[in-house]
Amino acid sequence: MDYPYPIKIRAVWWENSQVCWIDTSKLPFEEKTYCTDEPERLARAIIAMEIRGAPAIGVAAALGVAAYAIKIASSNREEFINRIEDAIKTLWNTRPTAHNLFWALTRMRNTLRSTVKEGLNTNEIADRLREEAIRIMDEDIRSNIRMGEYGAELVPDNATILTHCNAGALATAAFGTAEGIMRVAWYKGKKIKVIATETRPVLQGARLTVWELMKEGIPVTLITDNMAGYVIRKGLVDLVIVGADRITREGYVINKIGTYMIALVAKRNNVPFYVAAPTSTIDLNSSIEDVVIEERDPNEVKKVLGKPITLEEAKALNYAFDITDPDLVTAIITERGIIKPPFPENLKRIVWRGGG
Ligand code: MRU
Repeated sequence: MDYPYPIKIRAVWWENSQVCWIDTSKLPFEEKTYCTDEPERLARAIIAMEIRGAPAIGVAAALGVAAYAIKIASSNREEFINRIEDAIKTLWNTRPTAHNLFWALTRMRNTLRSTVKEGLNTNEIADRLREEAIRIMDEDIRSNIRMGEYGAELVPDNATILTHCNAGALATAAFGTAEGIMRVAWYKGKKIKVIATETRPVLQGARLTVWELMKEGIPVTLITDNMAGYVIRKGLVDLVIVGADRITREGYVINKIGTYMIALVAKRNNVPFYVAAPTSTIDLNSSIEDVVIEERDPNEVKKVLGKPITLEEAKALNYAFDITDPDLVTAIITERGIIKPPFPENLKRIVWRGGG
């Protein structure tokens, strides 16, 4: 497929009727790729964060359903339908916070049910599921590029952008949301610099954002998470751009743990705080009370890159995401345009109208 910018890194893709991915839990030390047509293997990959980032897990789940449908297309029709419904459930139960996973699986389930209603045979249904999954992947890349174009307008020349976690090519099918904006600004000749937080506990910033931006040639400087406040206060940051796992109808932004602290400091210091997210991350049906913040294994906190940093019997908490209030967000950059406050009205306008 043709895109207006180079696609240098893909996190998930379709190959030989299987879903394939680069194992982001091992980067940048090992560049391992895997492929599967087994929903259980894919579910384990999502839970273990071999595949992570809201759009990437949605795309991977959709491709995984399609791969499985092709694999089992010779089963009898009723068994085929039940097994695909089960595969969707397995993938649905992997991670609870990112909306894109449920959005993509709902699209796959709707495709399954409508093709069943049409009376198609198993091969035809599998074909339609493959087409839908590839469409979801392609839409993700195109959305990131469009988001990049809208967002790049907000980035002044010579700006220093602070980002948290990894909202890059490695968190999407390709190109990235926050990093997609950096890419477009860079390709348009803006001399940007990026400050990346390490993003404990599993270091998506240090391992993934730094790797990805260095590959692109964009200057990037790593800081520890607890430096963000001082670095912003000192005036070293012109704008913050982060991704999102879910945006509620009120405009609350759920993103990697630590985002809220950065948003507070940005507000206090009059630094714009932008959120880059496709409309598939916006859930107009969810209000903040409905959001489940994933709690992960405390051992991730008690270790760094597998090495213990505390006593084995020490207690630890491991919330994977936090909540940023709408009044801390300057704007939300989507593939349909830039959404400014008041978010409850403007989110609806963009998502329902389907245009900028
Ligand atoms: O736990 P992760 O690594 O899946 O968390 C990822 C994030 O919080 C990203 O910022 C978010 O998914 C947006 S990715 C474009």
